[in-house]
Amino acid sequence: MPTPNPDALQFLLSRRSRPAKTLSVPTPTRDELMPILTAAARSPDHGKLEPWRFIVLERAALRRLGEVAGARGQSLGRNEADIAKGRQQFDDGQLAVAVIEVQTPSEKIPPIEQTYSAGAVCLALLNAALASGWGANWLSGWPAHDRGFAETALGLATHERVAGFIHIGTETASPPERPRPDLAQITQWVSE
Ligand SMILES: Cc1cc2nc3c(=O)[nH]c(=O)nc-3n(C[C@H](O)[C@H](O)[C@H](O)COP(=O)(O)O)c2cc1C
Repeated sequence: MPTPNPDALQFLLSRRSRPAKTLSVPTPTRDELMPILTAAARSPDHGKLEPWRFIVLERAALRRLGEVAGARGQSLGRNEADIAKGRQQFDDGQLAVAVIEVQTPSEKIPPIEQTYSAGAVCLALLNAALASGWGANWLSGWPAHDRGFAETALGLATHERVAGFIHIGTETASPPERPRPDLAQITQWVSE
């Protein structure tokens, strides 16, 4: 017989992100963040390659990233609105964890599976933060996909990229539930 964990299931059935712009102080201390990072690192990983790592961005670091995003947006010729949107999460954020996908050469594990694993780490981190009582939100934005930003702001190597910025803080407003997928539309049952 299976052994249910109703509290865990209830969490998964009701979890939802809290928009980054509604997150405030306090943010988790380094000690409080450790179990959250530990839970995130306990994620499926084909071949035990550990194709990810964390960069914890505290407030001053986020402000620096905002400046880099602004300069990078200018040099790319992006328009002002685009630049402002790209840097907002850094200008306004209090604490974020950048989940970095670290592609590892492997004869057995294709790159796409390492990408999937990094995505799984992002969700695990998000959920662990939410389960710890924090508000949290997974963001990307154009800087997350820009090589120049990755190298200048975060010092990433060529085999690394940003899987996500997970913002964590204190919830100031409870967001309404959003529409969820219609299971009948996305589920196919195959019996034979
Ligand atoms: C890879 C990825 C990148 C995202 N980037 C952004 C973003 O840059 N800006 C944004 O407003 N939402 C972004 N989102 C969506 C937010 O995370 C949103 O809060 C989330 O989909 C809400 O889902 P939930 O209510 O099930 O937690 C992104 C989601 C994913 C999976």
